[in-house]
Amino acid sequence: MRNTGINLQLNVNNLMVSYNDEGPESAPCVVFIHGFPFNKFMWTPQFESFKGAFRVITYDVRGHGSSDAGNEDFSIDLFVEDLLAFLDNLGLDKVALCGLSMGGYIALKAMEKYPGRFSALVLSDTQCIADTPEAKAKRMSTIEKIKKSGVKKYAEDSLPHFFAPATLKEKPAAIEAIKEMILETPESVLCKTLLALANREETCKLLSAIKVPTLILVGEEDKITPPTVARQMQGKIHNARLTILKNAGHLANLENVTQFNAQVEEFLVRSIVLKSPAPVFF
Ligand code: MLT
Repeated sequence: MRNTGINLQLNVNNLMVSYNDEGPESAPCVVFIHGFPFNKFMWTPQFESFKGAFRVITYDVRGHGSSDAGNEDFSIDLFVEDLLAFLDNLGLDKVALCGLSMGGYIALKAMEKYPGRFSALVLSDTQCIADTPEAKAKRMSTIEKIKKSGVKKYAEDSLPHFFAPATLKEKPAAIEAIKEMILETPESVLCKTLLALANREETCKLLSAIKVPTLILVGEEDKITPPTVARQMQGKIHNARLTILKNAGHLANLENVTQFNAQVEEFLVRSIVLKSPAPVFF
């Protein structure tokens, strides 16, 4: 029997995974994957908006939010296996995936390994390239800084990079919510995930094999995964549609909720409810 609500628990490969699941059981299902170092509640504006028409699931990636961390080293592949076991345990054969940043890395890798399990893809503020040697070195120095100066300092230092300058001034509630999510993430999880991100493989080569409708979204002021990398992905995915969201940085789903939700809703209705081909936007 399906459980519905907030902070549900499911045992997946001996790991307790925390998730939210609401919306009509018969409706098409959309699974949202959060970025780093956040948790499932970063999707609250989408969860609340879409649960009338879709079955909406958000979950905490291993170690984040309220999900167990387990003892293994982290990797994007491990996160993908967790996702697949999670879907299997819920009896979900096919879902639409929406991933932001690290969530997009997981979604792209899941699409590469298990293409038959997904009906549509939303890639928000993410990229297919692997870390450059410089980016890897920066992750290593961030790990050292976290170990030396703690999670609070890391949260304070990283917040300005996630948001557009206007958001930092005008949306204190969103900033505070994200800060809390970072502060709740244990130091060991931050460090293990930074290593996983540094070691991830590129997924650009798989993009031409993606056959499902794909929507790419990016904040126009995203400094971490900017519009240029979104455009490169769009060029490689057949019929992918790209929308650059105004007044938004890296956390576009929180910074421009109205435009983000309108784009995703229109895309999901067309691609998984009506199942009509997505138009190409130039
Ligand atoms: C994220 O938001 O998930 C991170 O910015 C991803 C990354 O650091 O590559």
